[in-house]
Amino acid sequence: MPRAPGKIFADGPRELADALVEALRAAVTQHDVSETLTHPFHSYPARLHPGTARVLAELFAERATPSTVIVDPFCGSGTTLVEARAAGMRAVGSDLNPLAVLVARAKTWTVPVRRRNEMRDLGHELAGQALAAGKAARRSGAAPAPKRKPKGFDPNARDRRLAAWFAPHVRRELELIATLIEERREDDAEIADVLIACLSAILYKVSSRASDTDSTWVDKNVPRGAASRHFIQRVELLHAGLADLGRAGGPPDVVELDARNLHEVIPDGKAGGVITSPPYAGTYDYADHQRLRFDFLGLRHKGLDEGEIGSRRSFDTSGPLAEREWRTALSDSLASISRALAPGAFAAIVIGDSWAGGRAMYALDDIRSALPGDLGVAAWASQLRPMLGAGERNAFGTRTKAEHVMLLQRG
Ligand SMILES: C[S@@+](CC[C@H](N)C(=O)[O-])C[C@H]1O[C@@H](n2cnc3c(N)ncnc32)[C@H](O)[C@@H]1O
Repeated sequence: MPRAPGKIFADGPRELADALVEALRAAVTQHDVSETLTHPFHSYPARLHPGTARVLAELFAERATPSTVIVDPFCGSGTTLVEARAAGMRAVGSDLNPLAVLVARAKTWTVPVRRRNEMRDLGHELAGQALAAGKAARRSGAAPAPKRKPKGFDPNARDRRLAAWFAPHVRRELELIATLIEERREDDAEIADVLIACLSAILYKVSSRASDTDSTWVDKNVPRGAASRHFIQRVELLHAGLADLGRAGGPPDVVELDARNLHEVIPDGKAGGVITSPPYAGTYDYADHQRLRFDFLGLRHKGLDEGEIGSRRSFDTSGPLAEREWRTALSDSLASISRALAPGAFAAIVIGDSWAGGRAMYALDDIRSALPGDLGVAAWASQLRPMLGAGERNAFGTRTKAEHVMLLQRG
């Protein structure tokens, strides 16, 4: 759904401030961008609006040279990377969430047509096998698929956790598709990963979990064969989106990395620009939102459990400590971004105010006070957002909650 437009304030040189205002408005004025390229492929909590990412990518592309690399250190599902590639720029993405890396790689898998078609053909073949095996098993009464035992997961504990979320026939069908994909990994690990991302995209739809951010159990009547059919639709959706995204320059590098260690993925001073949206203080729990996918797909997530910045769970247990840790993490992330940027280059940061640990957190102020000496604010735009519930209204008082786009410049 398009967001309700709120009043916008901005400051900075006219051309830059106007672009930031347009970036905020794009969530409404360019809402349809969400349905283009590979954007609709996979849900992701607090995804950057693709319209906003497009406006920012185009702003950076106007100033780019053929060697400009755009970096997103909190790339999530890869929205910025998709738009940077669509605007003809090279891109590098990183995120501490292994699921984000899997999804962002799939969404930016700009390979030659032959490879893309191989992926689609294999997806059809495996879904066909899963459907046929399901029918055969129903006729003979045999169990169609063994349960997988991903490395690093206690099989019994994993089984118990998953059993609550999938009807037995759905679980068997999903396990069979995953097994068939994994059997092909030795021949073609790249395509196996893309197909696993397709399976991930349908997991919550065929589970009893309400959504990524809502872990309520809901009764869903998922017919036999539905998982295979949804899977193949997702394969087709990705195939079409990648065809629209094109192949100039090949896929970007996307790595699992803490944003505070950007030098491991981009040499100091080599980023021509950063477009990113860090976590909002105390708002999401990326590790918890994806636990069902981690369990099913066998994704190890110790790094995210320990290193996630600003998670809601950290504010739930100790507000003041979480707030101190949040400020330190923000300043370390900005220092890492500054170090990566070329002199004079810009970083666009999209971030929102939040209600964390019972307190109003003003993101624009937090960023300003976390800035390292060599990073200055070139322009900003803020859009007022509705406050939800009495607690939030009390905490924010007369200074209304807002969403911001800041343009920082390396000195
Ligand atoms: C607001 S989301 C980014 C969404 C992304 N722009 C998109 O469109 O999908 C923030 C991201 O920060 C990641 N994150 C949290 N702590 C991190 C850390 N220490 N280092 C790197 N990424 C982290 C989360 O996994 C999440 O993907």
